[in-house]
Order: sequence, then C-alpha cells, then structure tokens
Amino acid sequence: TDPAVIRNFCIIAHIDHGKSTLADRMLQLTGVVEQRQMRAQYLDRMDIERERGITIKSQAVRMPWGAEDGTPHILNMIDTPGHVDFTYEVSRSLAAGEGCILLVDAAQGIEAQTLANLYLAMENDLTIIPVLNKIDLPAAQPEKFAAELAHLVGCEPEEVLKVSAKTGEGVGELLDEVVRRIPPPVGVADAPARAMIFDSVYDAYRGVVTYVKVVDGHLGKRERIQMMSTGATHELLEIGTNSPEMTPSDGLAAGEVGYLITGVKDVRQSKVGDTVTQQKGGATEALGGYKDPKPMVFSGLYPLDGSDYPDLRDALDKLQLNDAALVYEPETSAALGFGFRVGFLGLLHLEVIRERLEREFGLDLIATAPNVVYQVTMEDGSEHTVTNPSEYPTGKIAEVREPVVRATLIAPSEFIGAIMELCQTRRGALQGMDYLSEERVELRYMLPLAEIVFDFFDALKSKTRGYASLDYETTGEQAADLVKVDILLHGDKVDAFSAIVHKDKAYAYGVKMASKLRELIPRQQFEVPIQAAIGSRVIARETVRAIRKDVLSKCYGGDISRKRKLLEKQKEGKKRMKVVGRVEVPQEAFIAALSSD
Ligand code: GTP
Repeated sequence: TDPAVIRNFCIIAHIDHGKSTLADRMLQLTGVVEQRQMRAQYLDRMDIERERGITIKSQAVRMPWGAEDGTPHILNMIDTPGHVDFTYEVSRSLAAGEGCILLVDAAQGIEAQTLANLYLAMENDLTIIPVLNKIDLPAAQPEKFAAELAHLVGCEPEEVLKVSAKTGEGVGELLDEVVRRIPPPVGVADAPARAMIFDSVYDAYRGVVTYVKVVDGHLGKRERIQMMSTGATHELLEIGTNSPEMTPSDGLAAGEVGYLITGVKDVRQSKVGDTVTQQKGGATEALGGYKDPKPMVFSGLYPLDGSDYPDLRDALDKLQLNDAALVYEPETSAALGFGFRVGFLGLLHLEVIRERLEREFGLDLIATAPNVVYQVTMEDGSEHTVTNPSEYPTGKIAEVREPVVRATLIAPSEFIGAIMELCQTRRGALQGMDYLSEERVELRYMLPLAEIVFDFFDALKSKTRGYASLDYETTGEQAADLVKVDILLHGDKVDAFSAIVHKDKAYAYGVKMASKLRELIPRQQFEVPIQAAIGSRVIARETVRAIRKDVLSKCYGGDISRKRKLLEKQKEGKKRMKVVGRVEVPQEAFIAALSSD
C-alpha cells in the first residue's frame, strides 16, 4: 500500500465520553462491520471473549474510507489502554500514529485523564483533531466547550468538530477531516525493517499476538524476525491486519499497522516499545523510546488460607503471561505466613490484579499496605533498593530517595482551596495553575508517589464532592526525610506492619496503628504492650490488659458434655490465630489493621 493513502490515529477520551460508541460508528460507516452485525461496542468484546476463552481485543482496526474526492484511503484506528498506570503503553500506542482525535463530552468538558493523554500526544508531535461528542444531549454546551478545547490545543473554536457518536451526526465529516488533517506516515520503504511494538496480548490458543507499526521496510510471512532489545529471534507464523477480525496477509510495509504471531507464549518476549527487525540484514539501530516496564508500587499478597499458596502462585503465573509489568517473588511473613511480594505499575494496576485474583481465581487474599520503592544510600557508600519496609537496612543511613510524580488535577475553581490544602498535607509542591475556562481550573503538582498510593484519590473526591479528576505520571525521585516505623507486640516486631513514612508523620502513624491494634487484639493471659518504634526509640505505646479467660466458669456445676463443647469451640477459635512471639492474634485483626481508613 502506498503510505500516502494511510492515516494512523488514536482516540483520546475520558471514561464515558463516548470513545467506544464513536469507534463503533466509524466501523459501521466505513462498512467494516455491516449494519446487521453491528452490536453495541463491537470492539469492547473482552467479556464475551473471556467467556469463550479467547482474550483477543482488537488493538488496531483497519478501515477503508473514500473521503471527499473518492480516493480510497486506509484508516488505522489504534486503541489506547484506558488507565492511568499505563502511561508508557499509552505513549507507545500514540507513537504508532501520526495524529489523534481528542474526544470530549460536550456536556462535561475536559477531564484530567484526557489532558494527561493530550500532553503525551503533544510530546509525540501528533496532529490533534479536537472533537466534541454528544451534541444531541440537551445538556450539551458545544459553544462553551469548543472555546475551552480550542484554547487548550491552540486552534480556532471553529476548527473544533461537533459530533454525536450516538446518532452518527458529524462522524462522516470527522473521517474526512482525519484524511485531510492527519499526515500520512513517513518511513523508508526500502530500508531494513523496523517495526514498533505498541501492544502484545496473550491468547490461550494462538499464543502472543503482537501489534506493530512498521516504520521502515517490510515484514513478510515466514520471515525470521529479531527483537532488538533482547536479540531473541522468532519465525513469523502469521502477519496481517484486523478489519475488525484478524485477516492474515503476505506482509506489512512501511506505514502499515497490523499484528504478528510467532508462537511465543509470554508477553514478556514481545515487549511494548521494542523494535522488530529481520534476523538477516536487519536494522542495526532500534527505534527510540523503548523502556522496560518498571514496577512502582509493591504489596505483599498472602492467601487467607495458607493451603491456597500453590493456587496463588499458579494464578500469578497465568496473569503474568499477559502482563509484562507484573513481577513477584515469594515472601514469608512471621505474621501472615507464605505469600508473594508483588510489584505493580501503580495503585490501579494493583487493584485490578487483586480483583482478578479474587474473582477469576477464587482466592481470598490479605494484602499489606502498598509501598513504593526506596533507594537508600548508607554512610559507607553502599546502596539498597527497598521494596519491602521490613527489609529496610539497619545502620547509618546517609540518604533515602523516594519516587515523585507529576500530577494533573482538574476541578471547578471553587475547590482550589480544598485541593491545595490536601496537596499541602501530602507534601506536594505546586508547579502551575491554569484556568481552562472561567470556572474550571487545572493544577499541576509534584507529589511523592508514596503520598498518593494510599487514599489520595478518595480524599480528593470527598473534598471536591466528586468533581475533581486526577492523573499522574512518575518523573523521578527526590531525597526525603524518611524513617522506618516498626510495630512491636510484646516486644516482637510484626513485619507486616512496618512502614516507611516521612519523619513528620511517623508519630501519627505509630499512634494510629498502636491504638487500632489495641482494639483488635483480644486480651491474653498476660499483659501485652503494643509499641511503635523508630529503631530502638519507642514513639507510641498502648497496652492490652491481661485477663484470665476461664471459659469453664460459666458452667459451674453444669454437665460434662456442655463443658466439652465449650472447650472444643475454644480450640476451633484458636485455629485462625496467628502467633507473634507469645501473642495470639486472630487473622481478622491483621486484616482489619491493614485495611486503610
Ligand atoms: P469507557 O469504555 O467506559 O471508557 O467509555 P467510553 O469512553 O468508551 O464511552 P462509551 O462509548 O461507552 O459511552 C459512554 C456512554 O455515553 C454510553 O452510555 C453511550 O451510550 C453514551 N454516548 C456515547 N456517545 C454519545 C452521544 O453522542 N450522545 C449521547 N446522548 N450519548 C452518547
């Protein structure tokens, strides 16, 4: 195909602004999906596919479009992952195209997620087509938001397109504008092949399906290819395009977007951002921008029932086939038993994985409080990477560094004060503030990742009555005054409760945990001190007073079978007890203490 007739683009939209509906309408209008086959959200087939055991979702769809003058064009619509932790994957999907549609609900206006992705699109030098959707809604304010959008992308309000993905109004014109405004791909057709991987998806039957944009050269069927980051080689068993079903072809040329199958079974062998070339006479220089996925947030995952440990390991193995960013290693906790320390891209990633483990694999889990990765430099010059607070080094520490994020917050301007106050208490530094319109404002903050992984989003929502939206990306690290706080029960450290916190917050953390535990731990036959300590210095203390729990006193003079019943009951109760040093703690106490409030 002549690259001059190809247009590659993404759709950037906030949740519910109508991306899937618009994609459906485009499939229909271009004739890729016939009217009678059309069912709502054609591309969003995840659930149905999962039921059938197939997990392929079209990450790129090829659509023919005649455009105004009738010249046949090929439009490749590339899907972007829809959640904040996958910034890198989003940036690769964007980089596979030359332009993007910025889709905004005409009744809602711009949200933080849209904005963050727009910045990524700008960094990739994409042509941006601003579009207002849902103009059929009575609550739509197309004029107001057209001005907001035009201001944002730096164009005239007249250049903002107005569509209704629901009725189809304006969608044909939008496709014409895609052809007119977005430039065709530029690449060297007769150079050694270089194709960028922008997604790879595991499929139970076919192995990994890798989505690529061929930048230079040509990749052909049956050719041997090489992954440039690792040097690994594979045979191209199949190559083709989706329109919208997978359609094998003889190959993909410069400028084209499609899929390839090599038979590998693990997405980590087909990494997003990597460059594919031929094994023989291939390219020597990879395309720029490759990054290894780097877990940012860690949490210990333990089965509630210790005998589920092998099942948890199998479930993690399975999930990892389709998730290159998921890492884990076995871990043992004195309090929680055998489990795994699991690394995630961010908090949402953690929640998604946890939910999948519980729902799809039927596991009941305890998760320790999430923590970020710390870099610790000792006075003797040695360096430690800490992914588990209980492994924080002892000895003389010269410096501790923590990851920081660039956060974008958008809210009605009446909430500026509340947001600033919240960010202040989370050690945030204001970087800038812009009015998107008279009543909506964008705030940019640098925040320690550790301060937002816990409950920042909930706090933000409650302080802004749900009106604020948030997005963030990690940008580096900073030195900070951090200390490790340990919690001791009767003098024994409870590893699951150790936390690395800012010096100014250590006291509050210690007091909170100690008093929480005092309420949760049942009285024992001896007095149990609960202490919070930094090193050997105790910063908070509570006491669980002793009782002698004489269960038999109740049935003084009663019959023997009743006594036996009571004794058995007590024994059963003990089973779910974990023993820390000499203290018996019910499992529920750990779970309750670990849950945030
Ligand atoms: P996610 O898949 O959750 O990210 O959402 P999305 O951005 O893909 O939005 P989706 O297409 O699912 O649309 C969200 C809701 O808006 C659905 O209920 C659609 O029916 C509705 N919707 C989409 N486009 C229009 C439109 O042009 N007009 C009206 N009235 N409703 C629309």
